[in-house]
Amino acid sequence: MSTTLEGVEDRHFIPTEYVVRLARTPWERAGYHALRREIFCTEQKIFADDDRDAIDATAIPIIAACCMAGMPDRIVGAVRIHNAEPGLWRGSRLAVHADHRKLGRIGAELIRMAVCTAHGLGATRFLAQVQEQNVLFFRRLHWKSLGTSFLHGLPHHDMQADLSRYPAHGQDQTWLLRPQPRARQVA
Ligand SMILES: CC(C)(COP(=O)(O)OP(=O)(O)OC[C@H]1O[C@@H](n2cnc3c(N)ncnc32)[C@H](O)[C@@H]1OP(=O)(O)O)[C@@H](O)C(=O)NCCC(=O)NCCS
Repeated sequence: MSTTLEGVEDRHFIPTEYVVRLARTPWERAGYHALRREIFCTEQKIFADDDRDAIDATAIPIIAACCMAGMPDRIVGAVRIHNAEPGLWRGSRLAVHADHRKLGRIGAELIRMAVCTAHGLGATRFLAQVQEQNVLFFRRLHWKSLGTSFLHGLPHHDMQADLSRYPAHGQDQTWLLRPQPRARQVA
């Protein structure tokens, strides 16, 4: 009899620890742009080979990195926020690497870091254009739809975060622990 971990026997290593933080170092920024390219150019094919735009000049990049031995090892999540007009902040380019989705609430934590950071910087409204397949995800995270629109030829919802659920903070990083799979006995 041997002990294995339920659901992960034949899968590659999945980290249990992530850090979500404002991207500051060249390594973090390079990983942030590489992940965006991977998701929005290669996976979703929204852009040909570069998804950067004018907003990047002023946006604050936020990353999620998986950790090995407590140290950031690979950038697996990204989002950016920018101050569009006085009081109004916007979030965009939310992305989690496909291997790390629905694992440890990385997307939810990126959104929390994005909105709480903007709130701390004076946001009175926080908006995002959300792809249709993610509207329920945002609704569950206390966002409401203000209406529909098309962006890059795809249907989106203009959505607004309930700032009372995202208290202002000035933290520049938070840690996430993925729940451990349950051990089980196999013959
Ligand atoms: C959308 C995205 C960022 C979600 O990231 P994620 O890390 O998988 O999300 P989380 O693990 O934080 O999800 C939190 C919860 O929402 C659920 N969820 C995730 N994506 C969802 C979706 N599209 N619709 C409904 N629920 C969803 C998760 O199952 C989880 O549920 P639980 O709390 O019951 O366990 C990710 O799927 C992604 O990068 N997609 C490709 C790029 C993209 O679509 N970007 C957004 C453009 S608007």
